[in-house]
Amino acid sequence: MLKLDSHPSGRHFLHIPGPSPVPSRILRAISYQTIDHRGPEFGEFGLKVLSGIKQIFKTQYPVIIYSASGTGSWEGALVNTLSPGDKVLFYETGQFAHLWFALAKRLGFDAEVISKPDEDTWRWGVDAAVIEERLRKDHQHQIKAVCVVHNETATGVTSNIEAVRNAIDAAKHPALLMVDTVSGLGAADYRHDDWGVDVAISGSQKGLMLPPGLGFNALSPKAIEASKASKTPKAYLAWDEILESNKTGYWPTTPSTNLLYGLHEAIDMMMNEGLDAIFARHQRLAEACRLAVKAWGLENQCLDINAYSPVNTCIVGPDGMNTDTLRKHALSKFNLSLGTGLGKIKGQAFRIGHLGDCNELSLMAALSGVEMSLQGMGYKIKASGVVAAQEYLK
Ligand SMILES: Cc1ncc(COP(=O)(O)O)c(C=O)c1O
Repeated sequence: MLKLDSHPSGRHFLHIPGPSPVPSRILRAISYQTIDHRGPEFGEFGLKVLSGIKQIFKTQYPVIIYSASGTGSWEGALVNTLSPGDKVLFYETGQFAHLWFALAKRLGFDAEVISKPDEDTWRWGVDAAVIEERLRKDHQHQIKAVCVVHNETATGVTSNIEAVRNAIDAAKHPALLMVDTVSGLGAADYRHDDWGVDVAISGSQKGLMLPPGLGFNALSPKAIEASKASKTPKAYLAWDEILESNKTGYWPTTPSTNLLYGLHEAIDMMMNEGLDAIFARHQRLAEACRLAVKAWGLENQCLDINAYSPVNTCIVGPDGMNTDTLRKHALSKFNLSLGTGLGKIKGQAFRIGHLGDCNELSLMAALSGVEMSLQGMGYKIKASGVVAAQEYLK
């Protein structure tokens, strides 16, 4: 077990699918002195950050920044746009889609979930045709929002959001489109305005390369209109006061000043690299990872080649091996953190994160650690995944 007060030699290899490693440039920015969040400098800085984050979401509309995690932003999306008892449609792609659905129910919304037959549900992306079919049957337009997860971090499956937009339009349905891009943003291509998303949900600790602590809601004019009619009680997460303060670069409550310094730096780094280059890097590393998985003779949790995640790969463990024991081995022997199998695939699958501040050699270190751990646990690999990934990356 890694203790915070111990100093193992070399670096820790954090390859869970978020929080992802924080680059030292961002850590340095976070360490700047905290300033008065109501002082004159802050407003100017706040406006810069609020405008910069729009570029990452590819939107011209406001982006709300909360001091919250992704879960707070899920809640923010629902309570700001809906009224008690409203019907909301979810699509179960994995544990995070399930948790968002469960949260909606706890908040008192009439949440309905579409899921494929049990053994298959968590291995595919959203089937937009099924959403279209459901919406076509909703003649009274009782469904007020369709909620889908862009990158299902639990399974390494990325869904086609544009197809969901097209399905809603084809059904001529007025429901809002809400998209969880907590792990997608900044790692997988995301286009808020082009795809007609009404509310996007994200967090700081994944593709944005920041520590956890900031949550986001990117809005659309339709979502802002809906928020004016919403009757759900809300206070801290209410958009109206935040949007009003944000006009001058401030927040109604004390914002996470130092994380905002980090966000400012992250946006600068990302715009320098270029979003297309970032997405291409993620695709390249993900492909190398998948080649390693194949060489080991293991199965990808994702069964649709068009839905493979550039963010993280979820691997079905070898028969009879508890994947949490494998993860413990990797951590204790190689100082490598791998993602656990979540929900119903706990102990049966593990995840490799290749997002954010990750490059060829950091991925190779992770793959090497996984390969040695698989062998250390007695699994006979079919071939070296390390060599397979190297061949591709060369
Ligand atoms: C896709 C997705 N949605 C939502 C969440 C929940 O976010 P948080 O744990 O920051 O509250 C996560 C967290 O990993 C996630 O991956």
